[in-house]
Amino acid sequence: MRKVLVTGGLGYIGSHTVVELQNAGFEVVIIDNLSNSSMEVLDGIIEITGKIPLFEKIDLRQKSEVIQFFEKHQDISGIIHFAASKAVGESVENPLLYYENNLSTLIYLLQACNNYTIENFIFSSSCTVYGEPDKLPIDESAPVKKATSPYGNTKQISEEILNDSCKVSNLKSIALRYFNPIGAHDSSKIGELPLGIPQNLVPFITQTAAGLRDQLSVFGDDYPTKDGSCIRDYIHVVDLAKAHVVALERLLKNRNSNQFETFNIGTGKGSSVLEVVNAFEKITQQKLNYKIVDRRVGDVISVYADTKKANEVLGWKAENSMEDSLLSSWNWEKKVRNIK
Ligand code: NAD
Ligand code: WQD
Repeated sequence: MRKVLVTGGLGYIGSHTVVELQNAGFEVVIIDNLSNSSMEVLDGIIEITGKIPLFEKIDLRQKSEVIQFFEKHQDISGIIHFAASKAVGESVENPLLYYENNLSTLIYLLQACNNYTIENFIFSSSCTVYGEPDKLPIDESAPVKKATSPYGNTKQISEEILNDSCKVSNLKSIALRYFNPIGAHDSSKIGELPLGIPQNLVPFITQTAAGLRDQLSVFGDDYPTKDGSCIRDYIHVVDLAKAHVVALERLLKNRNSNQFETFNIGTGKGSSVLEVVNAFEKITQQKLNYKIVDRRVGDVISVYADTKKANEVLGWKAENSMEDSLLSSWNWEKKVRNIK
């Protein structure tokens, strides 16, 4: 059986990807340090798939532990690397934490790829590398703009590290540039569980509807968009998870056209904040308490994916709409909060 290492496999996107990998017949080993996840996620994965992934609690910043891991597991055919810190605001306040966690972990894994002859590597990148797009929808040939946060910078530097590494070795790598992942598994057994106050729109909406937050702040209604609020491309986490399986197969079967490739992973459809709020009210048949407030510093106005390359070259397409995704987010929130 093909064995895959999934780092950050108990996190939000990682856990959904582990499910899809197991469904596709892969044997999965998870590394996670539980800094932003919990062991209960493993139970959810097992309940969904009926298969038990191997799990190693390792902090990937500990190089010696990374080496020990690969000494023990010498039959890994590919790595999907999710483990990272991801809060944009926190990265501005604590840049060294972000540079250390997001870059040292990547470097140690790539050194292991060299030393243990692992040639297939999928990386979690982000549409944040594009900054404010010059044209929409945005495709992969668009320039990478100067990052506006240390977090965003780690994604840009990571892509460069991967590209440089591919030039001098047999490494093949795909960076998937995610747009805005939302939603949860249909079973509501795994989903997004942010610690503390959610920074992202959809968890804030569902927590407000569940009564954990008083009011959603909509950051600005005076942008040059159809209704004045910002536009994003909201992608269902299960669709996103499936993109990783397709990307991994591409590398394992040597179907890649370059040793380093990038793909946009989005729906191709832009939705405004107010459209998301309205869709949520329609789906749940309840009024959401929200208020228009000032713009949030650093927000891009509008970004959504040109998905042609992902559709035609990778052979992957999003199946769920923003509404489908919102419904699954709400079902998950209700399950977590015991709401009938
Ligand atoms: P998450 O925080 O839910 O998952 C990351 C997991 O990695 C967590 O379980 C955490 O405990 C683990 N981890 C972090 N540092 C670690 C370390 N040093 N050693 C071992 N484990 C460690 O985040 P997510 O939303 O699932 O994001 C996964 C990846 O996708 C990240 O690289 C993130 O930057 C990227 N990404 C996320 C989004 C998004 O909006 N969620 C968008 C674009 C890209
Ligand atoms: C979406 C829209 C907000 C919260 C971030 C990272 C990005 C990527 C995905 C990792 C924006 C508005 C939000 C709220 C609001 N992560 N909003 N009220 O900012 O597009 O992207 O997550 O790579 O790097 O920057 O996502 O969910 O925070 O915001 O009005 O309480 O919702 O202004 O227009 P964002 P988000």
